[in-house]
Amino acid sequence: MEKKGLLYEGKAKKLYLTEDETLLVQEFKDDATAFNGAKKGVISGKGEYNCSISTILFEYLESYHISTHFVRRLSPTEMLVSRMEIIQLEAVIRNIATGSLVKRLPFQEGDVLEYPIFELYLKNDELGDPLVNEYHALALQLACPDEIRAMFRLTSKINAILRSYFERRGLMLVDFKLEFGREQGELVAADEISPDTCRIWDRKTHKKLDKDRFRFDMGGVDKAYQEVLERLSNA
Ligand SMILES: Nc1ncnc2c1ncn2[C@@H]1O[C@H](COP(=O)(O)OP(=O)(O)OP(=O)(O)O)[C@@H](O)[C@H]1O
Ligand SMILES: [Mg+2]
Repeated sequence: MEKKGLLYEGKAKKLYLTEDETLLVQEFKDDATAFNGAKKGVISGKGEYNCSISTILFEYLESYHISTHFVRRLSPTEMLVSRMEIIQLEAVIRNIATGSLVKRLPFQEGDVLEYPIFELYLKNDELGDPLVNEYHALALQLACPDEIRAMFRLTSKINAILRSYFERRGLMLVDFKLEFGREQGELVAADEISPDTCRIWDRKTHKKLDKDRFRFDMGGVDKAYQEVLERLSNA
């Protein structure tokens, strides 16, 4: 599939048009940003690691009949995806307390959450992607009630599937973010699932193997992404 014009360049990926208007090429970049773009850097090899990890996870979800935008891998850093209208909300699930949750609420870092927490964030860089609830999402006309219920149901299902996949490979899926697109009235998991968008800890040592290493200058960022890929590649 040949790339045509650049449709969109984001902080971590580029989207290209193709000769088929229903398909896009999603290219993963080595560029990294954190804290709403305030921190910028490059993680060498990240584009390839994230493309590989997202491919593994989208294919795994498809094997459970979860619809994703993934069509096929094109190159080390590129995948062909279905073009979607993206719902301007980020769906987050948390299994372990960390990050903004322990800043805002009386949880301790590393607390295992008895019930996973589902959160919605508005995709709006100017406002710093604020936390919203379903009433805000409805009032802003970002999604209808059925879609918000479907986002919750799908994110929970994806969490259950991926958690055990990670666990079997000695990893904890601490939390993650999904974006959903609309396709013929159905919601489809889009964007990426990678250490940029998931928090992943080693099960035994709780070593962080995700973008938090970049956020907090912990070093070994590329090694961590590589380790996640190696472990997820194990059958
Ligand atoms: N299948 C798809 N069809 C159309 N757009 C998509 C699809 N999958 C992901 N996107 C969008 O493509 C962009 C990917 O680029 P990137 O993740 O680098 O953006 P970003 O800098 O994080 O900005 P944004 O705040 O828009 O996510 C995102 O805006 C994402 O919502
Ligand atoms: Mg993004």
